[in-house]
Amino acid sequence: MKSAQLHVTTYPTGPVGPEQFVVAQVDLPGPDELAVGEVLVRNTWTSVDPGLRLRLRAAAPDGYFAAFPLGEAMDGILTVGEVVASRADGFAPGDTVSHSLGWREHAVVRAGEEAMNGIGTLRRLDVTSTQPQWYLGPLGPMGLTAYSGLAVVDALDGGGVLWVSAGAGAVGSLVAQFARELGHRVIATAGSPDKVAWLRDQAGVEAFSYRDEPLRAGLARLAPDGIDVYFDNVGGDHLEAALDALRPHGRIAMCGTVSDYESEPTGPRNIFLATAKHLTIQGFRGSLHLDLLPELEQRVGQWLRDGSVVYRESVYDGLASAPEAMADMLAGRTVGKTLVRL
Ligand SMILES: NC(=O)c1ccc[n+]([C@@H]2O[C@H](COP(=O)([O-])OP(=O)(O)OC[C@H]3O[C@@H](n4cnc5c(N)ncnc54)[C@H](OP(=O)(O)O)[C@@H]3O)[C@@H](O)[C@H]2O)c1
Repeated sequence: MKSAQLHVTTYPTGPVGPEQFVVAQVDLPGPDELAVGEVLVRNTWTSVDPGLRLRLRAAAPDGYFAAFPLGEAMDGILTVGEVVASRADGFAPGDTVSHSLGWREHAVVRAGEEAMNGIGTLRRLDVTSTQPQWYLGPLGPMGLTAYSGLAVVDALDGGGVLWVSAGAGAVGSLVAQFARELGHRVIATAGSPDKVAWLRDQAGVEAFSYRDEPLRAGLARLAPDGIDVYFDNVGGDHLEAALDALRPHGRIAMCGTVSDYESEPTGPRNIFLATAKHLTIQGFRGSLHLDLLPELEQRVGQWLRDGSVVYRESVYDGLASAPEAMADMLAGRTVGKTLVRL
């Protein structure tokens, strides 16, 4: 049996585009040919993340997930699917599962084999009261990143002024709403009036567009006495503005620096303010906080069910659309979690 998967053909030097990928047809073992411990999965949803852009090069950043080799399957991309056949205990045809062999239509996954710090290890999902793809969003890596980022800067108890950048994106839109639920006054920034309107009207936080108002001016207008916490998804000019706006003893959760994934890093030129103001800058990886998953599923699951947290998706159809989805997401043309439905 043949199945389709995406391969990288050349590493992009500027913006990512479909021309750097090819859809390859590969042989798949039949259900009777699986080895003991293997599960054949028909993938149904696959994730599109800014971090994938950091792996479209000969070597990924030190300590990060591995670079994607040219001309081979792209391992280490979170995915949801349905079990077609299984020779592993605990997995049966029809089960909904998550794993890390995305950007392909079928995957042969080894049960129990740790992937992506554990967040990509084959796992059965309870979809009785949730959509399967939510496990790629608020109940999975995006929710865990948002929640653990708040945890590492001691922001789960609320009470401060918190700014989140890329606030209408997958992680940012959850950070904004979790922080609001936890009792912070939340300011979110995003790159278009539509995103700002969604943040104000649906996500229930204060917001402005960094394209329509300079960051420092918008922050001074909404938080004249400064901010306590900055959740950084962007880096560069946004991080510089945060260093200016933070009050003494303020905290920064360093989640990512998407502004420099496709270009030369810039700044921050005012990093001395971290010393002057006794700031805490804490980098973190959501995948290293799996211990928080049960708390996340319980707490965030409740917020989703009672409607206090809303969740948006930008859905692309078909495997071949994944590169376009990634390009659109990096350029700010998607809202909420960017997904490919297979
Ligand atoms: N630490 C972790 O474990 C972890 C896990 C997942 C993700 N992340 C990081 O979290 C961040 C957000 O990821 P995501 O999946 O939620 O992506 P996302 O926010 O859904 O998509 C990226 C968004 O970044 C914004 N952006 C791009 N270039 C920008 C620039 N130059 N200046 C300002 N904004 C820019 C765009 O929105 P606008 O229209 O608003 O510009 C774009 O839609 C990324 O940095 C990612 O690497 C970290």
